[in-house]
Order: sequence, then C-alpha cells, then structure tokens
Amino acid sequence: MWKKWFGKNSTTQQNIYCNIDFTRLPRHVAIIMDGNGRWAQKRGLPRTFGHRAGAETLRDIVKAASEIGIKVLTAYAFSTENWRRPADEVDLLMRLLSDYLDNEIDELDQNNVQVKFIGKIDELAKTLQNKIEKAQAQTAQNTGLILNLAVNYGGRAELTRAVKIISEKVLNKELTLEDITEEMIERSLYTADLPAPDLLIRPSGDFRISNFLLWQLAYTEFWFTDINWPDFKPEHLVQAILDFQQRERRFGGIKNTKKR
Ligand code: IPE
Ligand code: IPE
Ligand code: MG
Repeated sequence: MWKKWFGKNSTTQQNIYCNIDFTRLPRHVAIIMDGNGRWAQKRGLPRTFGHRAGAETLRDIVKAASEIGIKVLTAYAFSTENWRRPADEVDLLMRLLSDYLDNEIDELDQNNVQVKFIGKIDELAKTLQNKIEKAQAQTAQNTGLILNLAVNYGGRAELTRAVKIISEKVLNKELTLEDITEEMIERSLYTADLPAPDLLIRPSGDFRISNFLLWQLAYTEFWFTDINWPDFKPEHLVQAILDFQQRERRFGGIKNTKKR
C-alpha cells in the first residue's frame, strides 16, 4: 500500500506536504500533461522518450495526489486534436496508455483509486476499449482518489455531444425548451458526477487550455509552470496547492460574501 502522508515512516512525505492546509484542499485538480516532446528534444532524444518519461510522472503524481487526499485528479492524456500527429507517435501514445493500465491497475485498485475515463472512448481500438472498461469495472467500488483520464477528449466535442443528448430529448418531447438549464447541461457532460476542477495545472510554459474542460473551467484557478511534464514532481503539485490556498475565489461576488 502507498504510505499515507501522516504515516509513521513517511518523514519525507511529511516534509514536502507539511505546509499544506489539509482543511482547504482543492477537491478536484485537473492537469494538462504537456511538454513531453520538448523534454525529449532538449536531451537530443526522440519524442517517444518524452512520452515514456511522462507516463512515469503520471504514476508519481497519482500517488502524491492520493496521499495528499485530493478527491479527483483529471489528467489530459490525449486530445481529439492529437490525431493530427504522425501515426507512429499516436500509436505509441495509445500503447503507453494500454501499458499503463496493464501495469498499474492492480496497484491503483489496492490503493482504493477509482479509475474513470472521459472522451470519445468508442473511437479507440477495441482492445484498448476493453482494457478501459475492465479498469473502470475493477475499480468502480473504490472510495479513494478518482483518477479521471481524458483520452480522445475535446471540450468542444463534449459540448457538441451534450447539445445532441438534450436536443434528442426535446425532439422526443421528453423535454421542453424551458427545461434546459445550466444544471441539465452539466448533467449531459462526461463529468456529470464530478465537481468542477478547483485547480488547473499546465506545465511546459504554454498559457492555453487546448480544448480541455471548456465548460468546467469557468471558475477554476489556473497554475502554470515552465517545467515540462516529465520533470514535474510531487513538490510542484504541492507548490500549486500552496499557491491555490493563497488565492481568493469570488465567483463573481465580492470578498467574504456567501454564495446565495
Ligand atoms: C504532451 O506532450 C503529450 C500529449 C499531448 C499526448 P507533447 O507531446 O504535447 O509535448 P510538446 O508540447 O510537444 O513538448
Ligand atoms: C494538450 O496538449 C493535450 C494534452 C496534453 C493531452 P497539446 O500539446 O496537444 O496542446 P497544443 O497543441 O500545444 O495546444
Ligand atoms: Mg504539447
């Protein structure tokens, strides 16, 4: 089992986690796992090495998020636009995802992690779809960290899908136009059963969201770093959380007003 931050033998973890206010954790952290290619390029290596190293980082960050007590971690692994990359790079990314499930699912399960996927999963290779289904089923009853992997995910595709789901109900006369509310749109997204992200992390020095969680990020706090994803360490996650805890979230109100 992974050590808990408060575990007897976890002095190192205590040191890096000790400044966190555990009563004010972000419930949901979303990460755009970017910069694998640049990480490899800097070292004169093919991009594939960066993707392999990035998969290792995901392992470490999932573990850290679970130890800290974060409820939901959404990781952007492959976008609907990433199909534009050369076929061999796409193949490798799919293989790494498949290997990740093969190698990690039992350990994730033992550590009470619930694995979920968002995106157009039905467009992936059948073998990968089967592994995804198996991973979700195996961990469905777990009550610890929810690891939500965004694969073949696009925010615009997700909203288009939601519009279709709702329109169909209107056409079938199950709904009227007046029934369409923000809550209904939210319930028609892949993330229907999850809270909106409190904190978005994008490494690698780019300041954009690249079609990630367009609806859900409306009031999310953003945290950017120049570090490429393969170099991203639990310490950086801690830093992002500490910065988040200094932010004042107003949700359109003014300081110290309660939401009505
Ligand atoms: C993120 O790293 C991995 C995916 C998008 C799948 P990149 O491959 O985008 O790395 P850079 O941005 O080219 O450095
Ligand atoms: C976003 O990164 C997608 C993932 C990390 C999976 P990209 O590398 O695809 O984003 P752009 O193209 O730089 O905006
Ligand atoms: Mg990139």
